[in-house]
Amino acid sequence: MGIKQYENPFPVTTYLGAEYFCDREQETARLISNIRSGNSTTLIAIRRIGKTGLIHHVFSQLPQGWKGIYVDILETENLNHFLNLLATSIINAIPEKSSFGKHFWNLIKSLRPFISYDALTGLPQVSFDIKPKEVEINIHSIFQFLEIQEYKIVVAIDEFQQISRYPEKNTDAWLRTRIQQLKNVVFIFSGSQQHLMAELFTSPHRPFFRSTLIMKLEKLNSEVYCNFIISIFSKYKKSVSIEIASQILDWSKTHTFYVQQLCNRVFASTIKEVTTESWKQQAHQLLTEQEPVFFILRNMLTKPQWRLLKAMAHDGIVYQPTAKAFLVKHHLGTSATVLRSLKTLMEYELIIKEFDADGSSFYGVYDVFLQRWVELSI
Ligand SMILES: Nc1ncnc2c1ncn2[C@@H]1O[C@H](COP(=O)(O)OP(=O)(O)OP(=O)(O)O)[C@@H](O)[C@H]1O
Ligand SMILES: [Mg+2]
Repeated sequence: MGIKQYENPFPVTTYLGAEYFCDREQETARLISNIRSGNSTTLIAIRRIGKTGLIHHVFSQLPQGWKGIYVDILETENLNHFLNLLATSIINAIPEKSSFGKHFWNLIKSLRPFISYDALTGLPQVSFDIKPKEVEINIHSIFQFLEIQEYKIVVAIDEFQQISRYPEKNTDAWLRTRIQQLKNVVFIFSGSQQHLMAELFTSPHRPFFRSTLIMKLEKLNSEVYCNFIISIFSKYKKSVSIEIASQILDWSKTHTFYVQQLCNRVFASTIKEVTTESWKQQAHQLLTEQEPVFFILRNMLTKPQWRLLKAMAHDGIVYQPTAKAFLVKHHLGTSATVLRSLKTLMEYELIIKEFDADGSSFYGVYDVFLQRWVELSI
């Protein structure tokens, strides 16, 4: 077959390679074209749709002469953390023995870092304990270093919205100035929290305004995903029918992470053929495992909030949550109560507002497992 076989070909947290990645051909081509033409891209999507996977997929297909550096800044709390992670990510992306690697190590050492080794992976970790002004200077030095390499470089900064939480003022303005001076380095900024990303990149008051090409990642096409699932099962000499693969996709609302999670379990528990009963049993099992978290959530919410969440879970998609018919059908009280609950549920990211192809907004439960669980609860 020539393809590396994995125990489970449906990853839920990692990227296993192009053979285990469904579609995204257009998005990949567009990102690569942006990169080639020296344009930075902002990748926005709801959570768990496949942003990180897409970045790794694009990195696996970069044209000759390009190198990708992936930095996930979710855990960073300030610019100093950002610097540490940037330096660590570069060190781990570039072989130490290459000339690029050697030079980079020399640069880092000249900045007097503290170097430790990750207990689990054994990989080096760089950290600096320096004054704020020096942090900026060091980040600048690293960018300048990347700028003069013979390779062209793509730096992907995942969970980029995190920088708006840094205590330093105007990090985005500062970063943009630095980034715009670079000719040899292109960026991909990726983030989930749509409101933050939208604010950072589309508000005219914000410095990132219009400085990048914006790309919104949508759900995968369900027909394509269905065929993909069938083909992966068959590669491993297991079978799943079109009907059943479609049922799995419907239940998971074609939301990548949830599809992958369910397929991962169904795959692991199938010897030869998936049946309606067998996939439903796995789905049920997944919900049962999540139950302790869902109970806590339910206790956290007020009665009106819980009722609204339940109503939304039942209807799946809700265009007008304050419409009379919806209020009456689900005994939700007044529209003012619903608006208050809606605001809180959106702040908790339990409910998400999205836009359909016509630009009309609608609401739904963000987490597919939560929706399926709430739907079944009394
Ligand atoms: N097109 C795809 N085909 C197959 N698997 C995919 C695809 N896209 C993503 N995945 C896998 O689904 C899982 C979840 O996707 P990923 O982590 O990329 O989502 P994300 O949008 O970055 O999520 P988060 O918002 O939590 O950061 C990962 O294991 C990823 O490899
Ligand atoms: Mg991600």
